Amino acid sequence: MTRTLTIPRPDDWHLHLRDGAMMAGVLPATTAHFARALIMPNLVPPVVTGLDAAAYRDRIVDALPQGAGFTPLMTLYLTEATVAADVVAAHKAGMITAVKLYPAGATTNSASGVRDFDRVRAVFEAMAEAGVPLCVHGEVTDPAVDIFDREAVFIDRVLDPLRRAVPGLRVVMEHVTTADAVAYVQSADAGLAATITTHHLVINRNHILAGGIRPHYYCLPVAKRERHRLELLAAATSGDARFFLGTDSAPHADALKLAPCGCAGCFTAPNTLPVLAHMFEAADALPRLGDFVARFGAAFYGLAQNPGTLTLIKGDTPQSFGAWPTGAGPVTVFDPGFEVLWRVACRDERLPRP
Ligand code: NCD
Ligand code: ZN
Repeated sequence: MTRTLTIPRPDDWHLHLRDGAMMAGVLPATTAHFARALIMPNLVPPVVTGLDAAAYRDRIVDALPQGAGFTPLMTLYLTEATVAADVVAAHKAGMITAVKLYPAGATTNSASGVRDFDRVRAVFEAMAEAGVPLCVHGEVTDPAVDIFDREAVFIDRVLDPLRRAVPGLRVVMEHVTTADAVAYVQSADAGLAATITTHHLVINRNHILAGGIRPHYYCLPVAKRERHRLELLAAATSGDARFFLGTDSAPHADALKLAPCGCAGCFTAPNTLPVLAHMFEAADALPRLGDFVARFGAAFYGLAQNPGTLTLIKGDTPQSFGAWPTGAGPVTVFDPGFEVLWRVACRDERLPRP
């Protein structure tokens, strides 16, 4: 039986595009399906000023496939040297949509992140005043804290004190992976939301480690126990507007993933929507997919829903995704471990009757 689902054109509220040849290679995967994406600033060197963001946005726009109809929404990488006035001016000018906080050393290219949160207090206060959202990579970096506990500990040690100290600050907890984070977001008032990735809805930590080590499932925050995945799935499919899609699609060339010290990141841009359709259908929540991928995030960021629609079709032939070629080497697409029967219809495809 063929099924179809039509949703508004979606947004990806957490995306790594990189730069140069890698960016040119992965950009079409996102623009084929998404109308907008919040672009992460963890380049080397990072995107720290309004001018950096403008230059990076120009490079993205120059690399867009013809007729893409895609808007990159830019972020700044918060450092202890960030100047509050620059952040506010870049936001006012429409150049940036949010600021990204990486605790120093938490993840890929985060060495310039924040060590001492008191040093960025003035920036947070200016952001609260001007309504600039803060996107948070919520993991402590204390080596004494077990990697599977770093998100939960971050909530207690950093995030909750920060939100109490700067109550007007709008915060997105990025790529939440734990029941603790879900509960924290649910318990908060209007100023807090969370993104959830595609892969964290699909895998738990056994997928990374049981029966052999699978580097393509390694990302940060690392996937947790099955009970946490089930909480994420429940939150994503619940219709609670505080949870929306941020894929955290994070391409690394295979040579850098399949190494003695492999990079963190799952590349999900090409198959996110088919995989999510499968997961939402299995959870009996297909009618809520449009909210999760196209409505709730835009509402949090105060933006209109995208014009236009995207249609997904479920057929009988599984789609396969393998290596995605880029000028910086092949990147392996996330394998959800089940047959992907949903696909995104070509824009001019004649749709079968539902
Ligand atoms: C991201 C990357 O590769 O830039 N990696 C990841 O595992 N998610 C960084 C990040 O978002 O933590
Ligand atoms: Zn990320």
